[in-house]
Amino acid sequence: MKEWDSFSEIKSAKGVWLTDSKGNKMIDAVASMWCNVWGHSNAQLIKCMQNQSKRLQHSSLFNLTNEPAEKLAKKLVSISPKMYKVFFSDNGSSAMEIAIKMSLQYWKNIGEPKKRKIATLKNGYHGDTFGAMSVGYVPEFFQKFKKQLFSTIQFDVPNSYRIPKGLTFHEYQNQCIEKIEKRFAKKDDVAAFVMESGAQVAGGVIIYPDSFQKKISELCKKYHVLFVLDEIATGFGRLGSMIQYQDQKSIPDIVAFGKMLTGGYLTMAATLANKKIYDSFLGEFKEWKHLFHGHTYTGNPMAASIANENLEMYQKKNLIAKIQKTTKVFEKYYQEISDIDIVGDIRHKGMLMGIDLVSDKNRKTPINPKKSINKIFFEEGKKHGIYLRTLGNIVMIVPPLYITENELDLLMGKVVKTINSAKSQLI
Ligand SMILES: Cc1ncc(COP(=O)(O)O)c(C=O)c1O
Repeated sequence: MKEWDSFSEIKSAKGVWLTDSKGNKMIDAVASMWCNVWGHSNAQLIKCMQNQSKRLQHSSLFNLTNEPAEKLAKKLVSISPKMYKVFFSDNGSSAMEIAIKMSLQYWKNIGEPKKRKIATLKNGYHGDTFGAMSVGYVPEFFQKFKKQLFSTIQFDVPNSYRIPKGLTFHEYQNQCIEKIEKRFAKKDDVAAFVMESGAQVAGGVIIYPDSFQKKISELCKKYHVLFVLDEIATGFGRLGSMIQYQDQKSIPDIVAFGKMLTGGYLTMAATLANKKIYDSFLGEFKEWKHLFHGHTYTGNPMAASIANENLEMYQKKNLIAKIQKTTKVFEKYYQEISDIDIVGDIRHKGMLMGIDLVSDKNRKTPINPKKSINKIFFEEGKKHGIYLRTLGNIVMIVPPLYITENELDLLMGKVVKTINSAKSQLI
């Protein structure tokens, strides 16, 4: 905070452009924290908000229901294979807390209380609350709280850029999977395996190799471990498909959605469970099998209404097909970006790109983490008319999904200029 003595105050936004109080315009390359789909000030979504606010702005889901939330739950179940019921919350971290509680309580409900360990991938990110931090663990973010986090069993994730010495990438992947199987086989105490679906985003844009996720899902099935997926950042088109677990051919028991669920207009997240999980919570009241969890804004009708409109727009505007075309613009820039002397690796899928910055290309040494990389990139980006956020040594490009090819072209040109003008401050 000492370095951030002043902030650009965003006054208005239209499409992919943000405008601050001094009249500076910046392309939103962060999709306003990875959630914006249609750009800002979309007339259809604003109208939907206005209409819903005239009918019902909020009413609790405790003992009650409301039409937009009901409609949304049905829609989510219809597009998410094998999912059966929906638990609403208002942010991704809460959606993951709910997923963790559901999976731990499931085993108690069915009379297997010894299954209480959670397995995860190193470097995952599932939010900033304590349960979410425990199943995640990006060292830079969570180190200060390590002693208070509950323990998990953590496995390596195969990063194609940083492979252990003496192994091929293929061998490394096999080794990662074998370690998981070995642990599952050793003791029948694992309740759930929790991982991001398709890629780790905050942990450095680590895109999983083909069938990695599928193999974990198969191991979960074989060893009776619940498979819990976090699609908060990677579902709904970010990686180029609507439901990422379908693309990965891996069916979860529980999955969480958030961010793009409302197009980035209001705050909402959802945790979906299959019938096996849901049924385990049914019983007489005195059996005490229900899930004790709820939030004030659970199932908020305004957010649900926007989410319904958003999902209809996905279909009407054929957004997933459009993304598959727009994503090719990124490829045009691979060479130019790779040639920059501080760029070690580029990882890209769908509408997500991570640029791994290094101080030594041969040794793959990350830029010194003590450098204020985010601040340097933010300031340089602003000069070039782009809102950029880096995480550690990774420049993240996460644009609104409906960005046009021309706009993405412009954005990528600005990214190249920003890296070139920032580099003297980094090495
Ligand atoms: C994969 C993943 N899960 C969970 C979260 C937490 O979501 P929220 O910030 O809405 O709490 C994030 C946020 O970036 C995320 O990337």
